[in-house]
Amino acid sequence: MTHITLALTKGRILNDALPLLRRADIVPSEDIAGSRKLVFFTNQAHIRLLILRGVDVPTYVQFGAADIGIAGKDILLEDGGDGYYEPIDLGIAACRLMTAVAAGAQPLKGRVIVATKYINVARAFYAQRGRQAEFIKLYGAMELAPILNLADEIVDIVDTGNTLRANGLVTREHIADISSRVIVNRAAMKTKFADIQSILDALRAVVENQS
Ligand code: PRP
Repeated sequence: MTHITLALTKGRILNDALPLLRRADIVPSEDIAGSRKLVFFTNQAHIRLLILRGVDVPTYVQFGAADIGIAGKDILLEDGGDGYYEPIDLGIAACRLMTAVAAGAQPLKGRVIVATKYINVARAFYAQRGRQAEFIKLYGAMELAPILNLADEIVDIVDTGNTLRANGLVTREHIADISSRVIVNRAAMKTKFADIQSILDALRAVVENQS
């Protein structure tokens, strides 16, 4: 058997992914939540897990440092998808990528300033709508930007809508439905075909059983 490295996204995707991996018989050999470690071995001696920030998962998989990754579609849309396949929609950590504005804000006619960590996605979306826009890259707490007049709009993921409500914002336009996807390094898909295929089959079976 070849060694397989599976890169996971920490945070809410990890919380949803671990039970799913368990049903696919991939179980970390120690408690991930209570540890500062970044690499974990599993009940299957040839499979190890990496715990990464979502934005880094496509990079690890693209360059083959990880064979397989689990990442949000938001991150994959922003990344552009070079060097990996995206064979499975796990259906977990579902949310929406949306634009949002300060409650009561009037629609702007001219150039709009958009704060987001999804610069590529936002640029394509506003261009497709024929709206002139300028983009400000932020790494978190985007909800503050319209309130403090840093930007007119934000592009961010919305799940319950609680964060927007708590900060006086409302959603405006829907950009994409988001869920977590499995990605696979293109070269590894060939060189480690049997081992990767058996992991993908197990994950597909779990996803099909729960839908
Ligand atoms: C995301 C997003 C919003 C929030 C939306 O942040 O950036 O702030 O979740 O969820 P809600 O609609 O249920 O309130 P997350 O908590 O994932 O942290 P991040 O900013 O580090 O990505």
